[in-house]
Amino acid sequence: MKFLIVGDILGKPGRRALKYYTVSHPNSFDVLLVNVENSAGGFGIDRKVYEELKSMGVDVMTSGNHIWDKKEVLEFINSDDLLRPANYPLSVPGKGYGLYEKRGVKFAVINLMGRVFLDPHLENPFHTFDRIYEEVSRQTPIILVDFHAEATSEKYAFGMYADGRASVVFGTHTHVPTADQIILRKGTGFVSDVGMSGCWYSVIGMKPEQIINKFLTGMPQRYEVEEKEDVVFNAILADIDENSGKCLSIQRIQKYISRDELKEL
Ligand SMILES: [Fe+2]
Ligand SMILES: [Fe+2]
Repeated sequence: MKFLIVGDILGKPGRRALKYYTVSHPNSFDVLLVNVENSAGGFGIDRKVYEELKSMGVDVMTSGNHIWDKKEVLEFINSDDLLRPANYPLSVPGKGYGLYEKRGVKFAVINLMGRVFLDPHLENPFHTFDRIYEEVSRQTPIILVDFHAEATSEKYAFGMYADGRASVVFGTHTHVPTADQIILRKGTGFVSDVGMSGCWYSVIGMKPEQIINKFLTGMPQRYEVEEKEDVVFNAILADIDENSGKCLSIQRIQKYISRDELKEL
């Protein structure tokens, strides 16, 4: 079963890149996973964008630290197909994992967030994974983990920790794709970061001049999504054996799309 795994979608340019790729490669995957933490104006997700992504055929939405940026997310955070990191405290709304079915095949998606340089208040994601794995592995061998984290060391450590239990561990959050996709020794597909989809001539999706100014002055800045430039679509295509849950192949996809090509949508 083929999973198209898309990292952080950066505002409208990211959504257009996703649409362009999925429309032009309709039969290349069975299940579509997307990290939506930056999908609405670069910060969080709102109802309109949630519906738009559903209409594009997104099966499961994962997220990260930016999931709370738009307050209206609280109205639909309990949707079955929308996840927030599972290692938030128990009282936090929403859920961090789910069981799904597509074309008669059951699979689980778990969303976790790293703690290094990110949020030390979260529960240890390694322990959270153990607990959730106990439960979902009784239902299906196909288990995908979005490990939303800053530090590649934490991502690698987690990937190796979950090797043989998760089908795929994919990193998100840095917005920069890494070229280290690999199948680990016990059959888990791994990549440190899928990378974002959005305007490529930007600082991780945002207008460069605003971020440069932040580094020059240290003063608070308003950050806006870069929308003027051509876009890049970054994703991972993972083929997973339906019986064993092992990853058969993991392939990096990177497609630059010009503004003229986007106009064809
Ligand atoms: Fe992000
Ligand atoms: Fe993030």
